[in-house]
Amino acid sequence: MKDGRCQDTDSLLHPQEAKLARHTARLAIFEAGALIREKFQSRGPLAVESKGAFDFVTEVDRSCEDLILNRIRKAFPDHTLMSEERPIENHSPSHVWIVDPLDGTTNFIHGFPMIAVSVALAVRGRIVMGWVFDPLRHELFEACRGHGASCNGRPLEVLRETPLEQALLATGFPFRAKELLEPYLRVFKEVFCEVSGIRRAGSAALDLAYVAAGRVQGFWEIGLKPWDVAAGALLIREVGGTVTDFWATESYLENGHIVAGSTSVHRFLLEKIEPLRGELKRRSGS
Ligand code: IPD
Ligand code: CA
Ligand code: CA
Repeated sequence: MKDGRCQDTDSLLHPQEAKLARHTARLAIFEAGALIREKFQSRGPLAVESKGAFDFVTEVDRSCEDLILNRIRKAFPDHTLMSEERPIENHSPSHVWIVDPLDGTTNFIHGFPMIAVSVALAVRGRIVMGWVFDPLRHELFEACRGHGASCNGRPLEVLRETPLEQALLATGFPFRAKELLEPYLRVFKEVFCEVSGIRRAGSAALDLAYVAAGRVQGFWEIGLKPWDVAAGALLIREVGGTVTDFWATESYLENGHIVAGSTSVHRFLLEKIEPLRGELKRRSGS
């Protein structure tokens, strides 16, 4: 999936279609968000299943997914739906909704309040609209390709460059790929020694939204999925930040290895990530 800056939303999506997409996404996200908030606050019994090692899904992930996909399906019956907890629903390959109904499931299970709903729309291989919603703080981050990004309707400013020693960064641990822990920790140490601090909050979608909002200056993680990053990456691009994979290409939706930040922080992270780049290359045998 390409994500260059050459085409904006107007040339990819009819304004009426964009308006309906925005309306539909907001309705769906707020509905899912209300359910997450209610279940988070009630702390009642929660059905949790294991999808694999250290990988969980709850009844709330699934209910939110149903709510969101039903809304989208109703408004856009011919669009493809790609969502975390179910197989892809293939329709038109040109219009693809990319949905993470609950980003931060482990946080949710533990009552740790960093959780998001992430929805993006890609048209002809480009992400054109994206939403990241924090239902516990009621913050809606929205981006429309070529039209900027906002938080609760307030435009986000273009990212400023921060001296490295003042920069606060975010990351995700490779908890599903523990064989990469050693090179990950080498990178972590190198980065940590040069910046003001590093946070690991447990929701990649919120991490990216926080980069766009200037709350952290950069982010990196290994092996994410399109639904973790599609909306957040557009938010960052719309405020002049840079998002690439570990090889400085735009294939992060395919390979999941993402580096993001203001221009200088992104450059710094790309350089420091070399041990991970080397190890991933070695493992892929190329
Ligand atoms: C996870 C979160 C987490 C990241 C994981 C993701 P999920 O998403 O974004 O921060 O480290 O790699 O899978 O499973 O809670 O939707
Ligand atoms: Ca996720
Ligand atoms: Ca999820």
